Amino acid sequence: MINCKKEDCLLSPAEGNYCFELEFETYKGKMSFEAKCSRITPSQDDFDEGYVMVLRDVTARKEVEAQKETFVATLTHDLKTPVRAQIRALEMMLAGKFGGLQTEQTEILNETLNSNKYMFGMLDNLLSTYRYENGNVAINKQETDINNLIKSCYAELRYLAEDKNQQTTFIFTENSFNIPVDPVEMKRVILNLISNALNYTDEKGEINISTEKEDENCIISFRDNGRGIPKDELSSLFNKYTSYSKRFRQVGTGLGLYLSKKIVEKHGGTISVESEEGKGSCFTVSLPL
Ligand SMILES: Nc1ncnc2c1ncn2[C@@H]1O[C@H](COP(=O)(O)OP(=O)(O)OP(=O)(O)O)[C@@H](O)[C@H]1O
Ligand SMILES: [Mg+2]
Repeated sequence: MINCKKEDCLLSPAEGNYCFELEFETYKGKMSFEAKCSRITPSQDDFDEGYVMVLRDVTARKEVEAQKETFVATLTHDLKTPVRAQIRALEMMLAGKFGGLQTEQTEILNETLNSNKYMFGMLDNLLSTYRYENGNVAINKQETDINNLIKSCYAELRYLAEDKNQQTTFIFTENSFNIPVDPVEMKRVILNLISNALNYTDEKGEINISTEKEDENCIISFRDNGRGIPKDELSSLFNKYTSYSKRFRQVGTGLGLYLSKKIVEKHGGTISVESEEGKGSCFTVSLPL
């Protein structure tokens, strides 16, 4: 049992119960503890508050978790190389580099190419999430034309829109809009937001992508008139592994928005969503100029 005076306590006495994690460097190496702390009624007049704190040694569990994550990251990294090679080979075949193709062959190769691209995107999200969580990401900002970057990302995902006869409109207030971002990392954000807009919007839906300057920020919006998001799901949307894709008979890891938020925040920006179920959604990214 720990008795502590109000002013010595790091925890807000108004709340009562707390859980937190602690890490210590010891002579045995790093040790991790889970702490649970509860307020108790003061038993003596000279103490303002009383607390019970229980510490649980979770070092072994943390080590297993770290090993599991490293294993997934290594596997993901190794899988990306053959998938990238397959994409390249399929693109060459479709371009007629190995001779002409019959219509049926072209259709099958196109479908295989699209599945491979989708798999590549999932592997990329998994690996990037691991890198961001381990602090292994350096942001290399360089002046990048954000309008061009959006167009090139869209070109990679155009097949999704074509499959569903969706209409995409670009509204760029500046002809070329150079902003300081890491183009490789920002590309992940844009690909995730465009693919969500296309995936969660039905046949013949409309998607509007716009960029504009507002004060000292670049505002990028991805608006769709798709299925929208129920109110009670909005707050958890940017959490890791939050995916409601199965509801729409889609496959998703639930990492797209989580990772996008991490990347945008690493650039000093913000990402937000407005949505109405059945009417559509608008995801807005604000980046400092
Ligand atoms: N434009 C949108 N319209 C409607 N729902 C959306 C939209 N964007 C995201 N969502 C909802 O938010 C959830 C989380 O999106 P997120 O991109 O993080 O994961 P995902 O698309 O399920 O999987 P992935 O990791 O493959 O992107 C989705 O499952 C979907 O339910
Ligand atoms: Mg997604």
